[in-house]
Amino acid sequence: MTLIEKLKESSAFIRNRSGNEKTDIAIVLGSGLGDLANELEDALTIDYKDIPHFPVSTVPGHKGRLVIGNLDGRRVLCMQGRFHFYEGWSMQECVYPIQVFSVMEIGKLFLTNAAGCVNTTWHAGDLMLISDHIKLALESPLRGTNAEELGPRFFDMSSVWSASARASAMAAADKIGICLREGVYMYFTGPQFETPAEIRAARVLGADAVGMSTVPEAIAASHAGLETLGISCLTNMAAGIQKQKLNHQEVLETGERVKASFSALVREIVRTWK
Ligand code: HPA
Repeated sequence: MTLIEKLKESSAFIRNRSGNEKTDIAIVLGSGLGDLANELEDALTIDYKDIPHFPVSTVPGHKGRLVIGNLDGRRVLCMQGRFHFYEGWSMQECVYPIQVFSVMEIGKLFLTNAAGCVNTTWHAGDLMLISDHIKLALESPLRGTNAEELGPRFFDMSSVWSASARASAMAAADKIGICLREGVYMYFTGPQFETPAEIRAARVLGADAVGMSTVPEAIAASHAGLETLGISCLTNMAAGIQKQKLNHQEVLETGERVKASFSALVREIVRTWK
């Protein structure tokens, strides 16, 4: 079976289950933001394991489902649980859901994540709109035979992070009084956090934040022509900036602390992103 045949089957399954209504925005909920899916009205959930060809996470406690419903008048599809390269998935597998959304003709993709803060003038707990990204990791989710139905073999990456969507997101943040930084996200595969030297290198290269997700998804989205927006919750200062060691607990705690304002911002952006 070809990739496109699989994508069509996954897409048809989701569409049938969700009543064939056109979805405005797909949202990938990063660490700490999962609860936003509970705020959807008339929500319908579909477990990844029920969707033909969808990857299924085997990590205990990891949610793996789509929640489809209405949020402030927009029809949205949320991914509760994403696929990371560090879990053992290939990059192709990590972006499979994004390609399904493209076949479903969802035109807008909103990626969220937790990230380490590289910019020393910012603070843990800040939110950052992604203006561009850097990926030096040697892999592409699009390596191999190109699915021409999705997009061309060689494609432009100069407008992955939609300028008009970013302007709309900034206006949304302004309107509800949330400070939204804007900067460059650099992808590291993980699962290990970066070394202090890697963080210094990232800063020299122009990064403001580092993280282990989002970029493969954004590449697949760009290939398939989805308009993409990304926001990082900067849960910790990156390695070497502060004396204390990094740990996942800090990531979770900061995520919990800013959850309410992050959710409010995502909602306002969803409401106003046209
Ligand atoms: N590095 C990479 N990924 C992360 C970090 C970090 O410091 N914090 C949260 N996700």
